[in-house]
Amino acid sequence: MNTAANHSAAIYAARRAKLAAQLGAGGIAIIPTAPEQQRNRDSDFLFRHDSYFYYLTGFSEPNAWLVLTSEGEATLFCAPKDLEREIWDGYRLGPDAAPAALAVQAAHSVADLDTQLPRMLENRNTVWTPFATHKGLEARIDNWLSRVRARVRYGALCPETQRDLCGVLDEMRLIKDAHEQDIMRRASQISAAAHVRAMQLSARMLRAGEDVREYHLDAELLHEFRRHGSQYPAYGSIVAAGANACVLHYRADAAPVCNGELVLIDAGCELDGYASDITRTFPANGKFTGPQRALYDLVLASQDAAVAATRAGARFNDPHDATVKVLAQGMLDVGLLDKNKHGTADDVIASRAYFAYYMHRTGHWLGMDVHDCGSYVEPTEVGKTSERKDPLSGETITNRPSRILHPGMVLTIEPGLYVRPSADAPEQFHNIGIRIEDDAIVTATGCELITRGVPVKADEIEALMRD
Ligand code: GLY
Ligand code: MN
Ligand code: MN
Repeated sequence: MNTAANHSAAIYAARRAKLAAQLGAGGIAIIPTAPEQQRNRDSDFLFRHDSYFYYLTGFSEPNAWLVLTSEGEATLFCAPKDLEREIWDGYRLGPDAAPAALAVQAAHSVADLDTQLPRMLENRNTVWTPFATHKGLEARIDNWLSRVRARVRYGALCPETQRDLCGVLDEMRLIKDAHEQDIMRRASQISAAAHVRAMQLSARMLRAGEDVREYHLDAELLHEFRRHGSQYPAYGSIVAAGANACVLHYRADAAPVCNGELVLIDAGCELDGYASDITRTFPANGKFTGPQRALYDLVLASQDAAVAATRAGARFNDPHDATVKVLAQGMLDVGLLDKNKHGTADDVIASRAYFAYYMHRTGHWLGMDVHDCGSYVEPTEVGKTSERKDPLSGETITNRPSRILHPGMVLTIEPGLYVRPSADAPEQFHNIGIRIEDDAIVTATGCELITRGVPVKADEIEALMRD
């Protein structure tokens, strides 16, 4: 759970006020936190709050709901104080303390939801909820609305419209304020230090002739995350030795980490509700081979091009297009693609031949969720004529221009190359998988890379692993 030191009630109150102003006269919003999830008999998964709920409350206890009116009245429903339960499960804030602690106007026990909500929905015209995010929410709202309707003959007005809250909140969350950027910078620093630690352990253990496994490196990551106060990894860490790096969603397992192989680590911590997301690829023993270095430098050059294309006013797709341009030329230059068969870099882009070795997007929004919310289409231009190819499906997208970047948006920049053994690929490159991923805050003139606490240049990685 997050510490009180990280909590600033005024920040969340300001976000609620901003949301309330967008609900329209007579609107009311209902936002539950995440449900607790059973892992197996008597054991739950570690609880993780709902990101929308936390964005508006800073409250990370389970079993809680926020109700917000267009007049800006915020009511929290939370677990009631209960000494017996608190002895087993830990401290609860409780409804009495909630208004002062969270700057909400009222608070009730969550046990009172079914009696309070019909009353609160009465005489409102629009009910806002995050559509399709919480199992059973629609049925619960239906039940409350049916109880309002039963009172219509006594003069009550029943809401007539239900609207999706996700779009409004996604737009708010897409631009990270100073408070959020500060947490994300700190999360990134912790994650960068964790990568450094894993790299150094790998080289040190191999030099000592020890049996290194992927889980040894995973343990270093976790140790560094936790010792700096991160609550948990932001997603399942990928620690992939050798050929495993060509499995995009590989998870840290028990494979040996061998001399002469590369290791790909894609791991980031979550700190106070915000994710970081870093990938580094490094030689297990600290020294790149020739073919590894050739492909590594190519991926890094493609990342440099993507970074240069990331700035306010550019489009979300621009870094991807810049990456593909460099990779396409590089694939021809190093012989991954045969010039006689595939022609020029432009031909490689048009035919999507590069897709054999680079099959994912160059980035995604980053924030409370590692693949954060926010439309990738420019909302001010929907319907305007434009044409672009979706990088994954190859589908031609018209009338939905790529999102224009603004200061405060945060995205990852993560090109890669993955060479599975095949007759088409030169043998020296077989089983090499490389990804380099950094997190960028868009600024007016460019972007701030917040994850460069871990080196990225091949020479710098080698130097770090020597020491
Ligand atoms: N770690 C997930 C991603 O890079 O998108
Ligand atoms: Mn990512
Ligand atoms: Mn990643």
